[in-house]
Amino acid sequence: MSDRLRIALQKKGRLADDSFALLKACGLRFAIRGGGLLARVKNMPIDLLLVRDDDIPSFVSNDAADIGIVGENVLVEEQLTGELDATIAMRLGFSRCRLCLAAPDGGTVKSKTDLSGTRIATTYPGVTRRFLSDSGIDAKLVEMKGAVELAPSIGVAESICDLVSSGATLEANGLSAFETILKSEAVLIRSSRELSAAKTELLDKLLRRIEGVIKSSETKYIMLNAPKSQVAAITNLLPGSDAPTVMPLAGNDELVAVQAVCTENVFWETLEDLKALGARAILVLPIEKMMS
Ligand code: PRP
Ligand code: ZN
Repeated sequence: MSDRLRIALQKKGRLADDSFALLKACGLRFAIRGGGLLARVKNMPIDLLLVRDDDIPSFVSNDAADIGIVGENVLVEEQLTGELDATIAMRLGFSRCRLCLAAPDGGTVKSKTDLSGTRIATTYPGVTRRFLSDSGIDAKLVEMKGAVELAPSIGVAESICDLVSSGATLEANGLSAFETILKSEAVLIRSSRELSAAKTELLDKLLRRIEGVIKSSETKYIMLNAPKSQVAAITNLLPGSDAPTVMPLAGNDELVAVQAVCTENVFWETLEDLKALGARAILVLPIEKMMS
């Protein structure tokens, strides 16, 4: 293979847009045009291989790609159903979802103890089978390629095991989840193969940038004015900040300016609590880039 680092990505679907956005935030310049299997990154020796998410683990395993971005659900399923040389190099925190058992509202299956002797429809036979054997449940799997949520209504299964993210698909089909068997998020995967020195250097650089992007997306710069007597209580409320900067305000003896980097999400509730302690002129600013 060439010395361009090859990244396998989902072409379209639940991970695609966030994966492209992450790589762009890392400084990669590329354009995705319809149809193409390969997109060239213009400003770095990187190629993007655009494929179905289910193919990503095996492409990384077979050396068709050096690394890949895929849902943990797909990785674990492929690990359980085939020989795979692909493991998680970094968790990415987006596209969070759960693989759940679900059944029709008001039906006979209400919890996992009702599953014995029934049929479960799924596109995740590996993960489902592992759960059943770990729980000592004897049920039959009905493997499907899609539209699993329709299985109970057409009479091919009593329950399903499928991905749930917003829950809208289950609700639209009169189903309720009763057990989560896997929690999933997007992950960056690689094989155990050694990469060339040039690719290793590039991959390290990319991983550091991804870390920076993830960190800065959660991190905020917060500025406010606080009554002197409340500075301790107010800085206690700032999520994930150590050592805020406290400065005098010109011509004001009661208030001081407080500035801090918050490494955790700043919610509206936090701002309301700060205000209740006497903080005013509260500003929350995004941080564009970070490197520590
Ligand atoms: C999953 C799953 C459901 C839907 C759930 O399909 O099979 O249909 O998403 O999402 P919701 O809880 O937000 O309604 P996905 O889009 O991943 O397609 P795929 O299974 O064909 O890859
Ligand atoms: Zn898929």
